[in-house]
Amino acid sequence: MDHSLYDKRKYPIVDVREGYGEWVQTYEQIVQDEMDLRLLERMQTIDWSKAHQVLDLACGTGRIGAWIKSRCAADIAGVDLTSEMLDVARRKNIYRALTIADVSDTGLPNASYDLCTQSLADEHLPNLRPLYRETARVTKPSGYFVLVGYHPQFLMLGTPTHFDRTSGEPITIRSYVHLLSDHVKAARAFGWSLMEMDEGLIDEVWLRKKPKWEKYLGVPISFLMVWRHE
Ligand SMILES: C[S@@+](CC[C@H](N)C(=O)[O-])C[C@H]1O[C@@H](n2cnc3c(N)ncnc32)[C@H](O)[C@@H]1O
Repeated sequence: MDHSLYDKRKYPIVDVREGYGEWVQTYEQIVQDEMDLRLLERMQTIDWSKAHQVLDLACGTGRIGAWIKSRCAADIAGVDLTSEMLDVARRKNIYRALTIADVSDTGLPNASYDLCTQSLADEHLPNLRPLYRETARVTKPSGYFVLVGYHPQFLMLGTPTHFDRTSGEPITIRSYVHLLSDHVKAARAFGWSLMEMDEGLIDEVWLRKKPKWEKYLGVPISFLMVWRHE
């Protein structure tokens, strides 16, 4: 579903490349680790000693790559659509290779990765099926796909992914709402089995950083799904 059905802010909308190409300047100061790293820290399923080849989809500036590197000695590759985000990731020297591509059609070889990750990007995909098809293609048999997303319940409250231009003007990056059941339907169609799921709520830790979010206390803002391929 296009987010416009739920949008209460009605900021001007730009596409992914334009949006992140500009947001890159402040992105890491704005994005909160509570969105994704907190859920990744709680994850039980992944045995990091068995992750040798990892692909970080929609890797952006490399936040998730840096977290993976702190867990294991895997060879990490990254893919993203926005070259400006990849420029920041490249400077961190985390990734063996960085590719400018769509997560739905990476051009990477079949059955090459023990684990794929993707954090905070599925809300920019109009359709989930190409993502789950592509991850099923590039993942080795019995490999994993860890997806962290912006929670549909929070998106439905009216706040799409947005940032402030250097001029101060707020801008939305085109967003879609995928129900959690949409993920299950799309993933199962390509041989993925759900092994673990978690949700992150707005809590006191969030409110210390964003006191204005008192009205969201107890609302889920992010989710994690760990898929295993047959
Ligand atoms: C919110 S950032 C997340 C970056 C990183 N995963 C993190 O957690 O910090 C979203 C990223 O997804 C990328 N992106 C969005 N749609 C994409 C697509 N279809 N294919 C590849 N990258 C995409 C954007 O360029 C941006 O770098």
